[in-house]
Parts: sequence; structure tokens; C-alpha cells
Amino acid sequence: MKNLVVVLMGGLSGERAVSKITGKACSNALKKKGFSIIQLDAKGNFVEKLKKLKPKIVFNALHGRYGEDGFVQTILEELRIPYTHSGVFASSLAMDKELSRIIFNKNNLKTPKYLLLYKNIKKNINNEIRKKKITFPIVIKPVNEGSSLGVYICKNKNQFIINYKKLIKEYEKIIVEEYIPGKEIQVAVMGNKALGAIELIPKRKFYDYKAKYSSKAKTKHIMPASIPPYKYAEVLNIAKKAHKILGCRGITRSDFRFNKNKFYLLETNTQPGMTKLSLVPEIAEHCGIKFEDLVEWMVKDASNNR
Ligand SMILES: Nc1ncnc2c1ncn2[C@@H]1O[C@H](COP(=O)(O)OP(=O)(O)O)[C@@H](O)[C@H]1O
Ligand SMILES: [Mg+2]
Repeated sequence: MKNLVVVLMGGLSGERAVSKITGKACSNALKKKGFSIIQLDAKGNFVEKLKKLKPKIVFNALHGRYGEDGFVQTILEELRIPYTHSGVFASSLAMDKELSRIIFNKNNLKTPKYLLLYKNIKKNINNEIRKKKITFPIVIKPVNEGSSLGVYICKNKNQFIINYKKLIKEYEKIIVEEYIPGKEIQVAVMGNKALGAIELIPKRKFYDYKAKYSSKAKTKHIMPASIPPYKYAEVLNIAKKAHKILGCRGITRSDFRFNKNKFYLLETNTQPGMTKLSLVPEIAEHCGIKFEDLVEWMVKDASNNR
């Protein structure tokens, strides 16, 4: 089929449901732009199917493990099919909240103070937390999830132990960090340009899975973020730098906390949500870039060796 774009979606991660919504929205946009679209669930024998379909381009609409961490990107490099978003190395770095932080900190991008806990390495956790001068409330989360899955804010030691036990059963590596009060700010980057910063005000305890995806949770979106212009420019610059030093391509979205006039970078997402109600499309729209045009740009930007 001429002009065939395969939209890879679904997959095996905890964000399977969100990825299907991203995939459908992007498929519809690309159809409007005249592309032939086949939607493909990235599980089972999807690699065999890709080999048969021989698409011109793969639009990667996956989120989370296997789709956002370099796995699928490696397969697409091997098949020599051009694909959207970041390449193998940047994806795997950005998805790992430990590795990306090492790079952020080395480049003077501020992150919350943190420490790592491993399933197979016993440590005196209390001592570790004290040594790093991290005080309650603290945040505990897996290093390689998304959509706030497995993120717990712990007010005290008791809550910490309960949540630690839950996470260490499922994950090899966990990150513990200081809780940063203040504003939730996220920045979209497209190619080498930071598009804008949005502020999220959840009605829930924090910006968790429901606050992100359920309209009933009534999270308030403030676009542009209500921060002074010089701070707005600063956070755009930080996001652009984060995108660049990780070696990202296409679009990314960086998540920040803003407290006492300082930005704390939480992470850079290489496969940000692309439903019509997601943040990158909302920021792009504010810059005059329509959803269909944004998705078309991503397809035109696709390549190998990213
Ligand atoms: N150190 C922190 N201080 C305050 N809130 C945090 C912190 N870490 C995470 N959160 C909250 O949890 C959400 C998800 O955390 P994040 O690190 O971005 O992981 P995910 O990959 O799941 O999006 C953030 O958007 C924020 O609302
Ligand atoms: Mg996040």
C-alpha cells in the first residue's frame, strides 16, 4: 500500500489503555491528512505482521515499558522501518528515572533529592533517607513506569513501609525522593523548539492516573502556566535542554514541580500522551499548531538511526 503508516499501539505496558486512545486519535488525524493507516497492537506476533505489511513509516503510539524504553525502537531499527519520536538510546535513558537524573544533574538541571532502592540489594533504608537529608512527606515510585502508576506520596514512615512493600514485590528498582510542594508544570518540545508550558491543578491529592485521564476528576488546565514571564522562559529553556542532552527526537514532554521560584525536573517523556485532550496537543494548539498538523509533522520527521 502506498503511503502506508502503521500505528503501533496498545502493547504490554500498564499504559496499554491510554496508548489505544493515543493511537486512535493519531490514526484519525493521519487519515484526514490522506495517509493509509493500519492500526497494529504491539503484542503477540506483531513483528511478523510488520514484516509482511512493510509500511513506509511506523507511528509509535505506545506508552510505557517496551514501547517507550528502546525495545520497540530496536526492533524498528532492525527492520529498517522509519519511526516517530526518540531513538533507542534516548528512549531507554529517558524512561529510566535514575539514568536520566544522573544526566540532568550533571548538566545542572535541578531534580528533587533522591535515592534508589533495589530488590536484590539490602540497605538500611532509614539510614539512606537520613544521609540524603530527605524528610517526610516523601515520594516513592518505580524508575520505569508512567501515567503516575505506582507513584505514592507518603506522609510518614508507616505509609512509606506499606507502599515500599507493595512496589518492591513488582519492581527491581525504586526511586525515593523529597516531595516538592507547589505547582505542577509541564512543557512540550517539538524538534528543537519548546512550544509552551501548561499548569495542572488537580482536585485530587496529586496528579495521579485519574487526575490525568478522567474528565470526572476535573483537573484544571491553565495554558499558559500562571508563572512570571521570565520564569516561563526559564522552564521552556530547561525542557529544551533536557530534550537535547538525552538525545531526544520528535516531540517530548517534560514534567516539573515549581516551588519557591525553582523548577524541579521530574522526568522527560519521550512518548507523551497524544489524545485530543492530552497536554502536548493542548500546548501545540495554543501555539497555533492543529492536532492534525502536529501528527503529520511527526510522520514527516520519522527516520531510522534516531
Ligand atoms: N518529588 C515529587 N514531588 C511532588 N510531586 C511528585 C513528585 N514526584 C512525582 N510527583 C507527582 O506524581 C506525578 C507523576 O510523577 P512522575 O515522576 O512524573 O512519574 P510518571 O512517569 O508516572 O508520570 C507528578 O506529575 C507529580 O504530580
Ligand atoms: Mg510524569
